[in-house]
Amino acid sequence: MEEKALILMTYDLPREWQGDFLKEYRVILSEEDRKGIASNLMANLPDAAGIFCLLDDPIPAEIIHSAPKLKVISNMAVGVDNIDLGACTRRGIPVGHTPGVLTDGTADLTMALLLSVCRQLPKASRDAREGRWSGWNPTGWLGLDLKNATVGIIGLGKIGRAVAQRLIGFGARIVFTSKHPKDEAARELNARQVSLEELLRTSDIVCLHTALTKETAGMIDSSAFRIMKESAVLINAARGSVVVTDDLVAALESGLIRAAGLDVTDPEPLPSDHPLYQLENCLITPHIGSATYNTRRSMAEIALQNLAAGLVGHPLPHCANPEVYQASDS
Ligand code: DGY
Repeated sequence: MEEKALILMTYDLPREWQGDFLKEYRVILSEEDRKGIASNLMANLPDAAGIFCLLDDPIPAEIIHSAPKLKVISNMAVGVDNIDLGACTRRGIPVGHTPGVLTDGTADLTMALLLSVCRQLPKASRDAREGRWSGWNPTGWLGLDLKNATVGIIGLGKIGRAVAQRLIGFGARIVFTSKHPKDEAARELNARQVSLEELLRTSDIVCLHTALTKETAGMIDSSAFRIMKESAVLINAARGSVVVTDDLVAALESGLIRAAGLDVTDPEPLPSDHPLYQLENCLITPHIGSATYNTRRSMAEIALQNLAAGLVGHPLPHCANPEVYQASDS
């Protein structure tokens, strides 16, 4: 009888999300409560046909080189910046990801963060609980209107677009940056594609929805903060490293910008003694953009479908490196 293919999983999905899928394979789960490929998984890399991993599991080239039988990597995330994609493509290994299903969930969370920061909800709630609500206060807890605000969206992919659509409902004006010209989206959203400099200079709210790449890493740094309005709010629901954390701390402390809402940080998780937590004008959530039951379950399903396809050599339903099907060394 043919031996079942070996899959290494860094996370044990709930049984009801797995269905019968994993019965067909030999599965080794991470024994350690740590990120990345734990030592028991490392020891089995030489025999592994598939890897199932999460967005904060680093998969560098060395891991890929240590797994000569590897046919597929499946990341339960849309972003694949944790994986050395180039090394996978060179080895002919497709990398699965989960676009589409988390668009609305992430856009909703972005709006929640944005509204909470613009209307100072964390502070207002804390003040109420802690006895600083002495009556209706005409000048207390004043926030920012979304109607007629200019919102700058950096990265008009699926999520950026879904956020823009929501913001239009609030009466905001949209400007955006994108790697490629997006005339149709601009028409649809009644939005303007502008340079990064113009976006930073003119936006009341700057929303980050770009993938983390060599080009976008550290894109929002001290010089970007100096261009932004002093009254501006920064929202990051993309990847922490798009922002230079120390520069953000300085910008929030010195009033270079008004406030920030972060669902992602660099590093992640942010240590509990980090200065960002001390700042009243910074709201931080623990990377929960896609954290609804339906979204996470759909992400798991797609990740398992990608894994199954790759193990039998079929094209992945959602492949982050489709060029692997054109050119590979193997
Ligand atoms: C992703 O899938 O990349 C998201 O960050 C998860 O919330």
